[in-house]
Amino acid sequence: MQNDQYQRGMADPKQPLLFFDTGVGGLSVFAKVRSTLPNAPIVYAADYAGMPYGEKSEMEVATRVCALLGRLSERFRPRLVVIACNTASVIALSHVRAALGVPVVGTVPAIKPAALATKSGVFGLLGTKATIRQPYVDRLQAEHAIGMTMLRHAAPDLVYAAEAKLRGETPDMQVCRDAVAGLIHQADGQKLDAMVLGCTHFPLLVEELTLAAKELGHERTISFVDGSDGIARRIKHLTESHIWPEEVQPGTFITTGNLDAIAPYATHLSKFGLSNYQSL
Ligand code: DGL
Repeated sequence: MQNDQYQRGMADPKQPLLFFDTGVGGLSVFAKVRSTLPNAPIVYAADYAGMPYGEKSEMEVATRVCALLGRLSERFRPRLVVIACNTASVIALSHVRAALGVPVVGTVPAIKPAALATKSGVFGLLGTKATIRQPYVDRLQAEHAIGMTMLRHAAPDLVYAAEAKLRGETPDMQVCRDAVAGLIHQADGQKLDAMVLGCTHFPLLVEELTLAAKELGHERTISFVDGSDGIARRIKHLTESHIWPEEVQPGTFITTGNLDAIAPYATHLSKFGLSNYQSL
């Protein structure tokens, strides 16, 4: 029923777009969507109680993401769900699509744009431990990067560095240098000229990662790529016939963790219009 209404473009103007990540990483995706659909009502859900997904098993991530998105969908009746987390998307996207009655847009490592961007034929993938081992990633590589070298490195500490930055703290530069070194110090790494930021937290640190590559003496300019532009275009297309509220409403930020822990992020969240905090 909900899907029928959706296909006829009859979503209630107040029905939100629901964004989902473990923390504030999904804001790197939301930022692009917000600039194309400024009046879209927003619910942004952060599973802080489950962070980090990158250290969990496939079974744990799939079960948790399906259960949480089921509860969130019952509570907020979103017109569309955006899994703004690479780890959750590469593991659970098909399960979530099968379970929910609305369109679900995932965030998967931007391997195709990186393969198009590299001139040397060597590019890197930074992600969580769980993301870089997924068959989904193997398939993207086989489809889009034939004859190229894709180096992979897990950089779980970057998630916490990005969280710190959005609390207004100085992110740990050593963590950023270690992440970049994990790719450029591999065989052929000196030729690397494109890097997939395959975790939605990582684009929040693009200035620090650029500086880290410079500090490590990497000679090539690196193009950092993520999937957020493509996702914004996809959502715009999927909601083409939709009606939005005339006025921008305050967005809702939901946490599965401690509500008091959100206060340090308030300055940053308010830049995204997220001012109504709730617990799940
Ligand atoms: N932001 C999530 C991603 O895109 C990962 C963070 C985590 O490990 O929880 O993969």
